[in-house]
Amino acid sequence: TLPTLEALVTLCKRRGFIFQSSEIYGGYAGFFDYGPLGAELKKNVKDAWWKAMVHERDEIVGLDSTIIMHPEIWKASGHVEGFNDPMVDCKESKKRYRADQLFFAPVRVDGNTIGYVSVEESGTMQAEAEEMAAEMKRKQAVQGTLEAIELKDYTEADPEEYELIPSPATGKPGSLTPPRQFNLMFETRVGPLADASGLSYLRPETAQGIFQNFKNVVDTGRVKIPFGIAQIGKAFRNEITPRNFIFRSREFEQMEIEYFIDPDEETWPRVYREWIDTCKEWLVSIGIPADMVGEDVHPAEKLSHYSKGTTDLTFTFPFGTQELWGIACRGNFDLTQHQKHSRKSMEFFDEGRKEKYIPHVVEPSLGVDRTILAVLTAAYCEDEVPNDKGAPEKRVLLKFHPKVAPFKVAVFPLLKNKPELVESARNLYKQLQRRWNVAWDVSGAIGRRYRRQDEIGTPYCVTIDFDTIEKDQCVTIRDRDTTEQVRIPLDEVEGWLNERIEG
Ligand code: GAP
Repeated sequence: TLPTLEALVTLCKRRGFIFQSSEIYGGYAGFFDYGPLGAELKKNVKDAWWKAMVHERDEIVGLDSTIIMHPEIWKASGHVEGFNDPMVDCKESKKRYRADQLFFAPVRVDGNTIGYVSVEESGTMQAEAEEMAAEMKRKQAVQGTLEAIELKDYTEADPEEYELIPSPATGKPGSLTPPRQFNLMFETRVGPLADASGLSYLRPETAQGIFQNFKNVVDTGRVKIPFGIAQIGKAFRNEITPRNFIFRSREFEQMEIEYFIDPDEETWPRVYREWIDTCKEWLVSIGIPADMVGEDVHPAEKLSHYSKGTTDLTFTFPFGTQELWGIACRGNFDLTQHQKHSRKSMEFFDEGRKEKYIPHVVEPSLGVDRTILAVLTAAYCEDEVPNDKGAPEKRVLLKFHPKVAPFKVAVFPLLKNKPELVESARNLYKQLQRRWNVAWDVSGAIGRRYRRQDEIGTPYCVTIDFDTIEKDQCVTIRDRDTTEQVRIPLDEVEGWLNERIEG
């Protein structure tokens, strides 16, 4: 069963994975900080991606470009003109909505419209709308059969309907403005002048940093088509309604690849399919179950004019099935635009074919934070295990894949006031620390310590006891998921762990 979002948010705060930014000032909507464990988890996710996509592939190279770039880039890419979301304001409450996330429906009884209801997008909006409609019918004491509620988003409203749709904030008809386009790019100023000449933007995607460096990489990297450029980095979007924890925030990180291919019409469909499969396999490799991942193929009429195909890999989040990873065939749109705006050739000379062309591109684009939310959702479990006295006890655990777990192993001396135990445990701890991030815990009963590690997803716990030093030179290793324990020689611990963590 899926955890609730609230359970995840609470655990993340309690154990130091993720905090609301600026919490001591009351928080700041759409911004989140990663605490000690979250920082480890995030680094592990990014490292796993980089290893799989850059280090383990011959034809993909890495890049780390700036967040602020020449503003002309965002004209060329179309972001200045078109990176907009439709926004609606409630005139009375001043609450702001994204028009495509605000849903409404006329309430009809026996074919007559008796009013309108509106709800914000959520997993339960249909039920909410139906309840509101029934309430409206009751209040107006109308007889007859309530018709099925068909929700439409606010961008589909007719102008005369704007006056009739109530704001979810006030419940009053006519309190919403018509939708207006709102550009999501954060503006900033570069240089000392406060006028428009210094107007610049925080990048809303890392992709354009790749395109504007295409020539540099080609000229210095000895790359041959097909090849990819990968980048991990921050992106910023002034989302109208940031929501669902780190799912949609205003500052986030992306892991993007621009994979350059030849313009042959038969090439892109094959490469596109390969990337969809590769992306799925990678999600599974970090512990996301394949059955929580779906494919959402964008219908042709929803594609941008330059796009030949886009598939989102979706994930079953606590609030519903939503986009996790977008894989888009962008043709040669971006490079062509940069060639036009910069007046620098973006052509590639293909040695094999002895011809020049502007390469086409397949773009797998993944959010780091969304991946972390998916990893947390998939890992969260509650079960019952026997406590120190053998009685059943509820436990919360994060079944992280060892690859992404913040700590790979914890080391405990059985008792903290026995120097021989502590010394031997400390030696093992220091030895393992050379390889991995290792937790150390001396306080409380062993059962308590196991529970603490379960909750932060540490796959293994090693305990040094009296037998270790007095008798058998063996330690107990306990498995997080099965709670089973094995006893193995102290000098085999590192190898034993290595097989399971790296294997
Ligand atoms: N270069 C293409 C691009 O940026 P996108 O679909 O706008 O495409 C790609 O974004 C991915 O970035 C999304 O699939 C999602 O994982 C992540 N993402 C986008 N907006 C986000 C936000 N506001 N908060 C967190 N992640 C976001």
